[in-house]
Amino acid sequence: MNITSVNHPSMPRYSFPVYCFLLFLITGGRLLGVNGEKKDFYIVFLSDQSANQESKTSTHIGILSALKGSEFDAKESHVYSYTKSFNAFAAKLTESEARELSGMDGVQSVIMNRYRKLHTTRSWDFIGLPQTARRKRFESNIIVGVMDTGVTPQSDSFNDDGFGPPPAKWKGSCRHFANFSGCNNKLIGAKYFKLDGIPDPNDILSPVDTDGHGTHTSSTAAGNLVRDAELFGLAKGTARGAVPSARVAMYKVCWASSGCSDMDLLAGFDAAIHDGVDVISISIGGLTGSYTNDTISVASFHAMNNGILTVASAGNDGPSFGSVANHAPWLLTVAASGIDRGFQSKVVLGNGNIVTGIGINGFEPKQKFYPITSGNDVAINTESKESAGFCIEETLDPSKVKGKLVQCKLGTWGSDSVIKGLGGIGAIIESEMFLDTAQIFMAPATMVNTTTGESISKYIHSTRSPSAVIYKSEEVNVSAPFIATFSSRGPNPGTKHVLKPDIAAPGVDILASYTPLQTLTGLKGDTQYSKFTIMSGTSMACPHVAGTAAYVKSFHPNWSPAAIKSAIMTSARPMSKRVNHEAEFAYGAGQLNPRRAVNPGLIYDMDNMSYVQFLCHEGYDGPSIASLIGSKSKINCASLLPPLVSEDAINYPSMQLTLKNDKAISTGIFRRTVTNVGRAKCTYNAIIRAPKGVNVTVEPTTLSFSHTLQRRSFKVMVNAESNASRKLLVSGSLIWRSFRHVVRSPIVVFNPQELGVDVE
Ligand SMILES: *[C@@H]1O[C@H](CO)[C@@H](O)[C@H](O)[C@H]1NC(C)=O
Ligand SMILES: *[C@@H]1O[C@H](CO)[C@@H](O)[C@H](O)[C@H]1NC(C)=O
Ligand SMILES: *[C@@H]1O[C@H](CO)[C@@H](O)[C@H](O)[C@H]1NC(C)=O
Ligand SMILES: *[C@@H]1O[C@H](CO)[C@@H](O)[C@H](O)[C@H]1NC(C)=O
Ligand SMILES: *[C@@H]1O[C@H](CO)[C@@H](O)[C@H](O)[C@H]1NC(C)=O
Ligand SMILES: *[C@@H]1O[C@H](CO)[C@@H](O)[C@H](O)[C@H]1NC(C)=O
Ligand SMILES: *[C@@H]1O[C@H](CO)[C@@H](O)[C@H](O)[C@H]1NC(C)=O
Repeated sequence: MNITSVNHPSMPRYSFPVYCFLLFLITGGRLLGVNGEKKDFYIVFLSDQSANQESKTSTHIGILSALKGSEFDAKESHVYSYTKSFNAFAAKLTESEARELSGMDGVQSVIMNRYRKLHTTRSWDFIGLPQTARRKRFESNIIVGVMDTGVTPQSDSFNDDGFGPPPAKWKGSCRHFANFSGCNNKLIGAKYFKLDGIPDPNDILSPVDTDGHGTHTSSTAAGNLVRDAELFGLAKGTARGAVPSARVAMYKVCWASSGCSDMDLLAGFDAAIHDGVDVISISIGGLTGSYTNDTISVASFHAMNNGILTVASAGNDGPSFGSVANHAPWLLTVAASGIDRGFQSKVVLGNGNIVTGIGINGFEPKQKFYPITSGNDVAINTESKESAGFCIEETLDPSKVKGKLVQCKLGTWGSDSVIKGLGGIGAIIESEMFLDTAQIFMAPATMVNTTTGESISKYIHSTRSPSAVIYKSEEVNVSAPFIATFSSRGPNPGTKHVLKPDIAAPGVDILASYTPLQTLTGLKGDTQYSKFTIMSGTSMACPHVAGTAAYVKSFHPNWSPAAIKSAIMTSARPMSKRVNHEAEFAYGAGQLNPRRAVNPGLIYDMDNMSYVQFLCHEGYDGPSIASLIGSKSKINCASLLPPLVSEDAINYPSMQLTLKNDKAISTGIFRRTVTNVGRAKCTYNAIIRAPKGVNVTVEPTTLSFSHTLQRRSFKVMVNAESNASRKLLVSGSLIWRSFRHVVRSPIVVFNPQELGVDVE
């Protein structure tokens, strides 16, 4: 996994847990066998998916017995059997045992368990889903499954007043657990999975959310209405999910001690698919393997095979190119956008100058002014002067910090906690990045840009007794939408043929429910608690789209996962290339538009074999694809490839042509089929927007339909001069327009030379 984000504070709230989990990997994650040979957890997928549950488990022990030579050793090594929706098991094995196992009869694949990280009031109105939006009574039959850190059952967002019993299809369950009062008719399911068995005092073995992340995401997707939600009087309004009448099922797979392990994730998916959820929301990422051995990719493929769309966060490793995670074509991958509301604090300097900073600071000043100093100036000795500039705890002299505001450069998160811990008042944090995201402080603090930082520094050094005061934060209007700095960008590292991310949704400064078991910042010395909090991340964007998928499904219960995804993508609002320089690599099809998504006109549908064909085209071989779908029958790629090679062999709602470096002109042909889900009789005309240096033609240019669910195919030819621009990407679009509908697909031409990477 990419660990740069540990020191690179892309996600304020998570720097601490991620850190813990890395330590865990180094120390506790490895288990030593009796003979001293290192053991790890492995997940073993078997080829026969049709077996019944009991026979699966005994087969697992049988296979391990054959490997180990005794049933006793087999049982000791066996950790868990996935029997509901998968035929797989987890076991503690040495590397050589894992290798031996992968060659055994009936074993499809063996992958090592890895640990992953977790990646309002106003956001729904901003994207156009008001409280008064048209709703289906069927909404109460929809179940949103969330893989996360657990849930807070007593939260007002999960109040079940007026809810009937769970829909008949629900096969899940929920019990009383430690610190967990149980479920109701809104929160209908809650389970936890912690298979590594490694104890940690911060973990409560129960679905209860001791972190806050899971309560926040699940209430964003499908929380009930809560009036007068707010934090410090900010972001006041009615908090709600996309589908307030839908049901929520929580699968706790992330832990304070270890992050989110593949073994636990797979167990969560196994249960969720069996329990009968309609949509899965997963704000977890960090790993990108091949599509056939990445757990989220494999598990979500099984979900798709069972008619369940998995919506996933794109990751918080932006703005670097190629940082997008969860990029399998059957996932709906979500980038984070900002809404039109920000939080700022006014800072008044002793000389009367007023500057502003970003962040959520709930403290009213008690004095008119406080003395202010700069971190560099209060170093414990001259050697630590530079680190002191970043307000690293050990490098500061407490006697010089006491009673003061300190100006710090952004190094790690929590300068406010450091300064407060040393007896100081608070901090002014200077940063070049992340000024589009408000973090919550546990002491008077705010974040300023470097220009403002320099002017404050100048002031501090211009007078004998500098002073300043930071006021409580206020809500301000900002221009929006924009893609957040932290949101991971394309191009897709998994395939050059599928554009990722797919869609953008609000993920900056989102107010939603929180846990009473964690302070607002999770930082040392924080004593602030709240029923609601404001968080940022693609983690917050993901449940907006998962909730919207549930909303679409409440209108169209029989639509396939690909149909729902297509509806959400082709109805998205175009976003500005001027504001977001990475264009589609930042926002995919554009900004989520829930109300239009329920009535898209046309859909780009796909079934499981469409994805198999795509993987064949990508060069995956039959056996590795079989491991993904868990099918005993052989996949013969040669028989599945389309007769005329097209650019991407997939009926995706967006198109990406990757330029070939050695050709003056690159050509791509995209074959697509759309299904009419609008009025029976209708005609669509193609509107093409092509960027300079790129020619796009479509054949035919008119699609006429005479009945619903009728399918029509067309062909898009893209010719691009390799030297058309010296840009990483140029883009246009294909719009199918009828009297009632606009069905829009982005067309991206990606020039890998500009990234300095070679694609084939
Ligand atoms: C997954 O597959 C890729 C490519 O085949 C390989 O490099 C990687 O090591 C595999 N990862 C695991 C966990 O097996
Ligand atoms: C969880 O429950 C136990 C036993 O009821 C109690 O002692 C403990 O304080 C609770 N923990 C939290 C975090 O509430
Ligand atoms: C820095 O912040 C100040 C105050 O918000 C603003 O006026 C100024 O334009 C910003 N400068 C840059 C370079 O972003
Ligand atoms: C912010 O926008 C809202 C609604 O667009 C408007 O009512 C309000 O006056 C604006 N506030 C400021 C400070 O501009
Ligand atoms: C595809 O899905 C259908 C059900 O829709 C299922 O019967 C079939 O086994 C699946 N095929 C593969 C290769 O997974
Ligand atoms: C790009 O290449 C073509 C042919 O190779 C040439 O005719 C054209 O002038 C070039 N365009 C630019 C902008 O260099
Ligand atoms: C695009 O079409 C124009 C006009 O037919 C032609 O001159 C040009 O060479 C074409 N460019 C590419 C990249 O195919």
